[in-house]
Amino acid sequence: MSENLTALAYLVASVLFIMALRGLSSPESSRKGNIYGIVGMAIAIATTVVRPDVVSYGWILGGIVLGGGVGTMIALRIKMTAMPELVAAFHSLVGMAAVMVAAAAFYNPAAYGIVDAEGVLKLASRIEMGLGVAIGAITFSGSVIAFAKLKGIMTGNPIVFPGQHPLNALIGLVIIGLLIGFAAEPSPVLFWIMTGLAFAIGFLLIIPVGGADMPVIVSMLNSYSGWAAAGIGFTLENTALIITGALVGSSGAILSYIMCKAMNRSIVNVVLGGFGGDTSAAGAIRSDRPVRPGSAEDAAFIMKNAGSVIIVPGYGMAVAQAQHSVREMADALKANGVKVRYAIHPVAGRMPGHMNVLLAEANVPYDEVAELEEINADFSSTDVSFVIGANDVTNPAARTDPQSPIAGMPILDVDKSRTVLFVKRSLSPGYAGIDNDLFYAESTMMLFADAKKMVDDIVKSL
Ligand code: TAP
Repeated sequence: MSENLTALAYLVASVLFIMALRGLSSPESSRKGNIYGIVGMAIAIATTVVRPDVVSYGWILGGIVLGGGVGTMIALRIKMTAMPELVAAFHSLVGMAAVMVAAAAFYNPAAYGIVDAEGVLKLASRIEMGLGVAIGAITFSGSVIAFAKLKGIMTGNPIVFPGQHPLNALIGLVIIGLLIGFAAEPSPVLFWIMTGLAFAIGFLLIIPVGGADMPVIVSMLNSYSGWAAAGIGFTLENTALIITGALVGSSGAILSYIMCKAMNRSIVNVVLGGFGGDTSAAGAIRSDRPVRPGSAEDAAFIMKNAGSVIIVPGYGMAVAQAQHSVREMADALKANGVKVRYAIHPVAGRMPGHMNVLLAEANVPYDEVAELEEINADFSSTDVSFVIGANDVTNPAARTDPQSPIAGMPILDVDKSRTVLFVKRSLSPGYAGIDNDLFYAESTMMLFADAKKMVDDIVKSL
């Protein structure tokens, strides 16, 4: 394949990757997006494999069969709820690959065509290699910790110790110094000390992050893995890898930003905050204010006689796996002439798109599902808000109390609807650890039970 044809094929693959990202931005087009991604990747791999500088097909084929086989098996078996930890595990592999490629190129630069006329490693390649190995090592150890925390192998609580931040800052500065030193004099000693310290800083940066903040961290590590891949792309002089790495790097960074914005936090606060460990179900808030408890029969009666119901799912629906029962309930209500829609908050649950995925799994029609900005104005003309396992994303304190930890976070205005039905097991707080005044409002009825059990009982009553 000529150089021009290779460049053209890589360009086509890159365009397909962009179309894949575009497709993945909505549940309706996500399958198409996945197909664009698969075709783009197939073109990129085929173009690389037929290049004249490939010396052995055995290793490549072995890698594809082994990696493809393991990947297929994992993808078929993984539970939807375990997706964040799987993503973290995969990112660790990207990080390690970046370290390995950089090490291989460092020890045999001529094979990669990155030496000058005197056979010395080029300055630009030293910088790319140094950055690639540092980002790759941070991505590897950070992702391993994120995986361990999400999987429950390690405590989800922030691990903090005195002098942690100054120590991290010091190691960060030493790594930068070593990067400059390596660019001036590419010695193996500098290379490996830099790599070792980057592994250490990845570990130290992620241990103080609470388990519940992990989705933001996973997305941030996703971004790092993209930049690490782009770094390898420069070392290998492979434009497809540079473009793909940049796409992953920037989309991961944008996703982290969107999540932080929707939680009204900054990325620095997430990384340094030590916020949001394992929130236990037996939360700290025990208010003596009276609430109005209700039964499944009460809820069924209220909703059957309503003109419109908006269902607001949250983390508790995911824990209880109540999505199928919720759809059955919606079907029964619709059969009674009630208008039913679903309102999704951008950070409802514990990962981006968490609720969309669960509702899609239960075959809820896409046109009944609305995002916050599409539906928020409709709550004031809605008869019933059915809040199931959601808490923080409905808390009016975000609007009214400037001292609240969630002050300024956009919330779903369920308090503006005529009646609010809250399904949760107790008055315990949600992820942010704060009380919700809406539990005690006159228009609220609390339905204390496991989400699935309560909805199944409502369906029976309906
Ligand atoms: P939360 O505010 O965390 O509230 C979930 C509620 O579900 C809890 O109050 C809990 O109350 C209830 N619950 C738990 N298990 C249940 C079960 N089996 N049956 C019934 N209820 C159950 O959830 P949310 O409203 O979805 O808000 C998400 C929070 O996570 C936000 O604060 C957000 O900032 C944060 N966060 C989100 C993300 C992303 S990307 N989605 C990432 C990081 C952090 P009981 O214990 O009384 O049952």
